[in-house]
Amino acid sequence: MRLIRIFDTTLRDGEQSPGASMNTEEKVNVARQLARLGVDIIEAGFAISSQGDFDAIRAVGGEVEGPVIASLARCREADIKRAWEALKDIPKRRIHTFHSTSDIHLKYQYRIGREEALKRSVEMVRLARSLVEDVEFSPMDATRTEVSYLAEVVEAVIEAGAGTVNIPDTVGYTIPSEFEKLIRHLFEKVRNIGQAVISVHCHNDLGLATANSLAAVSAGAGQVECTINGIGERAGNCSLEEIVMSLRTRRDYFDADTGINSGEIMRSSRLVTKITGISVQPNKAIVGANAFAHESGIHQDGLLKEKTTYEIIRPESIGLHSTRLVLGKHSGRHAFKARLREMKYELSEEEIERAFEKFKHLADQKKDVYEEDLEALVSETITKAPEKYALVDIAVSSGMSQKPTASVRLLIDGAEASRTSHGDGPVDAAYKAIAVLTGTKSTLQRFEVKGITGGMDALGEVTVIVDEDGRTVRGHGADTDIITASALAYVNALNKLAAKRK
Ligand code: KIV
Ligand code: ZN
Repeated sequence: MRLIRIFDTTLRDGEQSPGASMNTEEKVNVARQLARLGVDIIEAGFAISSQGDFDAIRAVGGEVEGPVIASLARCREADIKRAWEALKDIPKRRIHTFHSTSDIHLKYQYRIGREEALKRSVEMVRLARSLVEDVEFSPMDATRTEVSYLAEVVEAVIEAGAGTVNIPDTVGYTIPSEFEKLIRHLFEKVRNIGQAVISVHCHNDLGLATANSLAAVSAGAGQVECTINGIGERAGNCSLEEIVMSLRTRRDYFDADTGINSGEIMRSSRLVTKITGISVQPNKAIVGANAFAHESGIHQDGLLKEKTTYEIIRPESIGLHSTRLVLGKHSGRHAFKARLREMKYELSEEEIERAFEKFKHLADQKKDVYEEDLEALVSETITKAPEKYALVDIAVSSGMSQKPTASVRLLIDGAEASRTSHGDGPVDAAYKAIAVLTGTKSTLQRFEVKGITGGMDALGEVTVIVDEDGRTVRGHGADTDIITASALAYVNALNKLAAKRK
């Protein structure tokens, strides 16, 4: 059985989804989860693109053990050197360099010929290899590149020292049978192909990213690049959960598998949704809310008799448990810590203490605390932006015959201030009071409420997207009271804006 490497690019290509930008803390949080999931490589950013990306690569490399950490770099000396600067203290590191090879890109974007593109690619792979052992090269827009030239580039970069050559379907143009043929052709024509791992990186513009990646695996590809929930540039990338579960479910067909701990898939999906604010469509394969919901009477009848009649994946195999009760109001610090350890969270004593305080507060309001509640609570604790504002209290009155009113008390740089405002509804009234207290000039772009677990006492999770002078941030808040959750989410976003302004 072949072991296919999983190269996760949620933090780089995934972050290119509109509105998905993550701060360093959030990236470290996602990277920790990717390590628990067992990905082989984490592309943590594009070092030269911004100081934020540079810092995030260093922080991820400093905090996350297990996967190789990669930085993207164009085929330019400054890019390669910046990637090296970001990676140099990380023991398991990779420089991933790329250059377009299609005539369309070379003619209109780069304004150079094929020979020059080949020369630059080889030179920059050599430079990268003089700095790190592990170098990956991507001929960008490979699926629209003339095939014999593509083979020539692949051979030359392997000769120059690339240990992985990635074949990107940059614009999501290819189709499975064609892509399989292309990969087979490379295996036949490239003399030294056995010296490198062939990878694929498929975009989803025609909804074929997973199918194309699977076709490439059939043809011999040994690495797949993908993202959690399939987020990424435009229509996104191949989704990690789809490629992993396709290979696992159809091991009989592919005779290949990955080293992914599939029980961590659901948690990874929820974390990325929460941090990026990008929701998963309900009918999304594997991680959508309806992926295991059987509606038809005939299907339900079959399932009751024998699960395999209509179920090809056991929900538990991706970490979806039927609302597993974990703790209650009487659980102490010791049980709380033990549960976090079981859930494989590695938190500092201070983070555990903060999370425990929140847990006590939650358990007072909610009889049973489920695993999903704990996940929300932990990520609240570790993704907190430095706080300029803190919500002290909120009281609202509203009803069919009453003008909605909210009284809000905030700590602003440690000093308490309060305000009462009216609005169209209780959330609007609360947001108006907070806006006056903080003097924010930002505008609210999106407001979303979700119940984390079922039932009347479910924890409500609010995500807001707020924009100020072209800076967009997401805020999150979770509470059993959705007005409080809404206020927490708004305050969280304003704290992030304040941190960005600094
Ligand atoms: O889509 C693409 O071609 C890329 C490369 C940088 C690998 O993201
Ligand atoms: Zn891409």
